[in-house]
Amino acid sequence: MSESIKRIGVLTSGGDAPGMNAAVRAVVRTALGQDIEVVGIRRGWNGLVHSDFYQMNSSSVDHILAQGGTILYTARSKEYMTEEGRAQAVATCKLLGLDAVVAIGGDGTFRGALEMSRLGVPVVGIPATIDNDIGCSNYTIGFDTACNTAIECIDKLRDTMQSHERCSVVEVMGRHAGYLALYVGISVGATAVLIPEREVDFDRDVIERIRQSRMLGNTHFMIVVAEGAGSAVEIGKRIQEELGMDPRVTVLGHIQRGGSPTARDREMATRMGYAAVMALVNGELNCIVGTKAGDLVTTPIEEALNQQKHLQMERYAVLEAMHAKNK
Ligand code: F6P
Repeated sequence: MSESIKRIGVLTSGGDAPGMNAAVRAVVRTALGQDIEVVGIRRGWNGLVHSDFYQMNSSSVDHILAQGGTILYTARSKEYMTEEGRAQAVATCKLLGLDAVVAIGGDGTFRGALEMSRLGVPVVGIPATIDNDIGCSNYTIGFDTACNTAIECIDKLRDTMQSHERCSVVEVMGRHAGYLALYVGISVGATAVLIPEREVDFDRDVIERIRQSRMLGNTHFMIVVAEGAGSAVEIGKRIQEELGMDPRVTVLGHIQRGGSPTARDREMATRMGYAAVMALVNGELNCIVGTKAGDLVTTPIEEALNQQKHLQMERYAVLEAMHAKNK
């Protein structure tokens, strides 16, 4: 047990994700239960550079469990990327007597956390990004909510595409990863899914898929493309050029980042917030909380940042199997 943890900071950084507030709430409630004071740091690492913080108590996190976004605000901090900025951040930690910082965010957040740990401020990270692209964790907070938001939108698109017998091309987020696109594609029965993890052969992966589907009698088509695999606008243009169709293009964009977190995100965020504080209490410093086979684990931060996660391409085979070659 580490009696030395008496006051911690908590911050959210990078792209926000539904469930971040649930994680903040769990960090605050768990810490207070361990007689640890909590300082809320606003706007990510910027908050330490510019002393933008406030003392948090139990009521600070009332009624936020179901709220999307982050009450601590978030930002991508250019100043923190400089030596002077980091030195200022460390000075703020020392001035406030912070024994550690809990950083909620994605890989950029954790690179910032690693710098803090190297400057002598203990950190624990919680993976929160809708991209689900953090190597040390099977799951990242916000992914399930973003999937369900995209699925709800695409289900609505399918109604009108079916009525007008049209082709829809939908671009989803995910940055350089295809988790969102593939999970959503399977869940909406997409005609084709394009992801950065699989080299795109346009004729094979789009044109041929549409032709096969048409041969089976379908008259509307749904193409889901991860933003890291291409532009829905460009794909729509190529479909028009090659098939003479007039596709309708939808870029879902930041709607995928909002909304009330689902049960999975609320439960996972609460467990991860608890685990992050208990890691500090148990003397496990400078690590990232994550899930492996459903269990919560911690990974040393440098090791975590070097871990790669590979999208299980078995899911792509599942998607393809859903396109029966004959009725
Ligand atoms: O990393 C989360 C994410 O939503 C990505 O999927 C997306 O590419 C990026 O953030 C958008 O960043 P911003 O909110 O700064 O436009």
